Amino acid sequence: MDVTLVGVPIQTGAGRLGCEMGPSALRIAGLPDALRDLGHRVTDLGNVAPRPFADMPHPNAAVHHLAETAAWIETLSEIAYRESASAMPIFLGGDHALSAGTVAGMARRAQEKGKPLFVLWLDAHTDFHTLESTVSGNLHGTPVAYFTGRPGFDGYYPPLLASVDPTRVTMIGIRSVDPAERQALKGSGVTVHDMRMIDEHGVAVLLRDFLSRVEAANGLLHVSLDVDFLDPGIAPAVGTTVPGGATFREAHLVMEMLHDSGFVTSLDLVELNPFLDERGRTATLMADLAASLMGRQVMDRPTQDFS
Ligand code: ARG
Ligand code: MN
Ligand code: MN
Ligand code: MN
Repeated sequence: MDVTLVGVPIQTGAGRLGCEMGPSALRIAGLPDALRDLGHRVTDLGNVAPRPFADMPHPNAAVHHLAETAAWIETLSEIAYRESASAMPIFLGGDHALSAGTVAGMARRAQEKGKPLFVLWLDAHTDFHTLESTVSGNLHGTPVAYFTGRPGFDGYYPPLLASVDPTRVTMIGIRSVDPAERQALKGSGVTVHDMRMIDEHGVAVLLRDFLSRVEAANGLLHVSLDVDFLDPGIAPAVGTTVPGGATFREAHLVMEMLHDSGFVTSLDLVELNPFLDERGRTATLMADLAASLMGRQVMDRPTQDFS
């Protein structure tokens, strides 16, 4: 298929510097060639930059880098909308604030196609803060609240041209939720599968249920993969490690099932902080996971049907 790589060196949404090196590390880990080897036609737009911005104060004094982050979100929403007309965009982050833009742009694309947009959020965190509720002020904690249309972003983030119905958002891997997020998620309609759900049911059961809903609605599917979805033991290069994350095999299984579904229309690879990596192992793992999602497999399956 036609794939467009978009480098997004945003780091203003995170609490520490380094995510701006993420796109380079993903390229050095071999992602573009891995996708070409799988038969995809890959165009790399290189790294993009936010539109110009001026200072933007907010009553919540914890909030930082609001203007620059909002500029990124507006630019990325345009790019996601534009590129998704003719290809599958893959966004090489950059911190998770970028998804406020990429998902908003994909929601617009879906609306124009007359199809619903579904979002699979693979993360330790729910990123469901508003500008008022964030305690850290790190805006990578806000994208899901924004693109599902929660109030409080008006006049700060760009006007949302199309929102995502919260009932079409499923989160897997969750293990760190702030009190305000937890309260807001109650009755929001968002499906939150915490690590215990993975432990009890297995990730395949959770994902199959979600994918059957995407299929029934004939939807578009955006996947947002945060490095901290993964256990820090296999993916140390992230500023917000939380113990007890997805294993190597769980993560690959998710990607393999997503590929088999054929539904994925856009992808974010976010929060990679190469400054915190060990000999490139996290960048390599993220590139390998993306390759799995794009069709890399050990065997042509199934060689035998056990169902
Ligand atoms: N909930 C915490 C906060 O708002 C952590 C957010 C982490 N988000 C991320 N995309 N890594 O600060
Ligand atoms: Mn600063
Ligand atoms: Mn996140
Ligand atoms: Mn996270």
